Amino acid sequence: MKSALIAASVATVCAAAFGVSGFQPTRAAGTVTHVDDFQLTDSTRMAYQLYYYKYAPAIVLMTQTDGSSVSRAAAAELQKIADTYKDRGVLFFMVNSNLGDSRDAVAAEVQSQGFKMPVLLDEYQLVGESLGVQREGEVFVINPKDWSVAYHGPLDNRFASGTPNVNARASDAYTAKAIDAVLKGQPVSNARIDVKAGATVAFPERLRAAAVKTISYSKDVAPILQDKCVGCHISGGIAPFAMEGYDIVKGQAQMIRETVRTRRMPPYFPDPHIGHFKNDQGLTAAETRTLVHWIEDGAKRGDGADPLLANRGKVAPDWPADLGKPDVIVDLPAFTVPATGVVEYQNQRVANPFANDTWLRAIAIKPGDRRVLHHVVSNQIADRTKPSSGIPAGSVGSYTPGARPQVMAEGSGAPVPGGGMLNFQMHYTTVGAQATDRTQVGFYVMKDVPKYVKRAVVISDGGMRIPAGEARHTEIASMTAPADMYLYTLYPHSHYRGMHVELKTKTPDGKETMLLSLPKYDFNWQRDYDPVEPILVKAGTRLIATWVYDNSTHNPANPDATKDITWGEQTFNEMMYFRINYRFADETSDHLRNDLQQQLSASGGFGALDDNADEFLTRDELRGTRSASILANFTMLDRNGDGKLTRVEYAATSAASGRGRGPALPVLEMPEL
Ligand code: HEC
Repeated sequence: MKSALIAASVATVCAAAFGVSGFQPTRAAGTVTHVDDFQLTDSTRMAYQLYYYKYAPAIVLMTQTDGSSVSRAAAAELQKIADTYKDRGVLFFMVNSNLGDSRDAVAAEVQSQGFKMPVLLDEYQLVGESLGVQREGEVFVINPKDWSVAYHGPLDNRFASGTPNVNARASDAYTAKAIDAVLKGQPVSNARIDVKAGATVAFPERLRAAAVKTISYSKDVAPILQDKCVGCHISGGIAPFAMEGYDIVKGQAQMIRETVRTRRMPPYFPDPHIGHFKNDQGLTAAETRTLVHWIEDGAKRGDGADPLLANRGKVAPDWPADLGKPDVIVDLPAFTVPATGVVEYQNQRVANPFANDTWLRAIAIKPGDRRVLHHVVSNQIADRTKPSSGIPAGSVGSYTPGARPQVMAEGSGAPVPGGGMLNFQMHYTTVGAQATDRTQVGFYVMKDVPKYVKRAVVISDGGMRIPAGEARHTEIASMTAPADMYLYTLYPHSHYRGMHVELKTKTPDGKETMLLSLPKYDFNWQRDYDPVEPILVKAGTRLIATWVYDNSTHNPANPDATKDITWGEQTFNEMMYFRINYRFADETSDHLRNDLQQQLSASGGFGALDDNADEFLTRDELRGTRSASILANFTMLDRNGDGKLTRVEYAATSAASGRGRGPALPVLEMPEL
């Protein structure tokens, strides 16, 4: 007991000295007293942030490796404990820090073993390192009240050493006892027990402890910050502090470690295993380790010049540096935002600066006051007195936090029919002080008519409904490609309750391909994801968007967890929205295919109702006022009487023809985000 106490207090002193319970290669097993926040993704690509679960009375983590009999036996025993504590709200996770286990392998292990609890992938090993993990089957019982490690050791005495015999009864249920103690607010009597059963988990960076000491601020750390952070963390930029030298970085070091471990920074959220996107601002595994290890080793200045000093006196440019000054700048009317309250959407209409049909290669919106301007969407209002040339009208620019300007893909342009008005729908949020916004829109014009036409379509479900208090509510909607398409831009959008989003394709033979996955969606950061190479989607392929919403009180951004939430434009309502910019493979600007666009959009009506994307509408999928008439006529529509509607059967409804569609399907009517 005495030695355990000393060990604990030594660890506390170490942690205090470094300010973190971090990279301690020489630390003995079982001396970690505190667990810092982290976010990991599980084998289904869902994000889990530890401190989100602060409401739980206790959290149990157990290290896991694939294919090992000890790990599997421990997992089965852990599940029994989880079942026992189910009603008391104790949460259980497994953590895989084994570099040899790919995510696909872990997913296969979860399947074959029938694991019910999430397996979190510690692919960068930062969590395992900081917890002092040595082996598979190590259990951590965490007390979320102060994030202390109440217990670290084997699951029970059978897993302490040798080959665990799970047919024998455990004579000392360490984990269950530790959970009981935490639930009662009592100290755990046997809080640290060595684990000597099971295989060790290799942590190569631990063995390279000497190399960690040589991480150079000047040569290793500052270049990463310059490359991945300074674009925003510059004077006049959108971030709260400017990375203008070592002292500032050192002062922010603990915050940097936390934001990187929780994947809040840099604000680039795609799952790195899925797709490749332009403007990838994410940190690589090596960069993440370098930054975090350098901070855990004390964020030392070391030798060499300080490259970040050159950022002093530099300010963020007015217009994006890579695009330069726009060809045409439109000033939107000034708008004064009150100090408090909810501001209705403001529609700012201006004359179209282009009298003739014009093609744009890029659009940039320069917010007048970033504190109050939340987002801008736009559309064009045609001059109906003039005959139309038929080039499609669409968005003339959008702005969302963190967004980059819209740049059209090589060889394509965004069409703007000449004349009429441009409408910019401004969403303002109040910030406690009155502010006046003067936003500008910059257009970059193409000299010649481009070969290809950039189009946009929105996969959405206006009939969405998120039950009050539900922490993980899924909504699915889809569209079907009427012809071959190239996808240029993927843009998911929801509000404060959106927590996870994915887009995949499904070909008629059932093959699925994931195109974009954000394990954790963050409303504060909405952006376009442009595949490095446009993605070819063949005719007949479905594009399926899946959103997961968190309408519980645990979601800190949730304005009100007591209400069922439906579609609405204000941020306290929700959206289920996925815009795709694309072109039809066979469409050129001198051979327009507006008919295909209509077919594509129309396929979304069925796709929005088909909640499980199985290509059939059952009665329970036809909820809400929009579906009332379909439901009333279900028996008649269901011509083969199999109790479900196919696309062909659905096509006989007035909803499919667009008549009587009601307000709930905002696919075509709403301005484009
Ligand atoms: C696209 C712009 C952008 C990039 C790139 C970016 N940041 Fe940030 N950063 C912000 C903004 C805006 C905030 C404040 C809002 C927030 O915390 O989300 C912020 C906040 C932070 C904070 C938290 C400050 C606090 O007190 O809460 C840290 C630390 C930070 N960033 C570090 C980094 C690091 C390290 C990188 C690069 C690896 C980086 N950021 C890249 C825009 C950016």
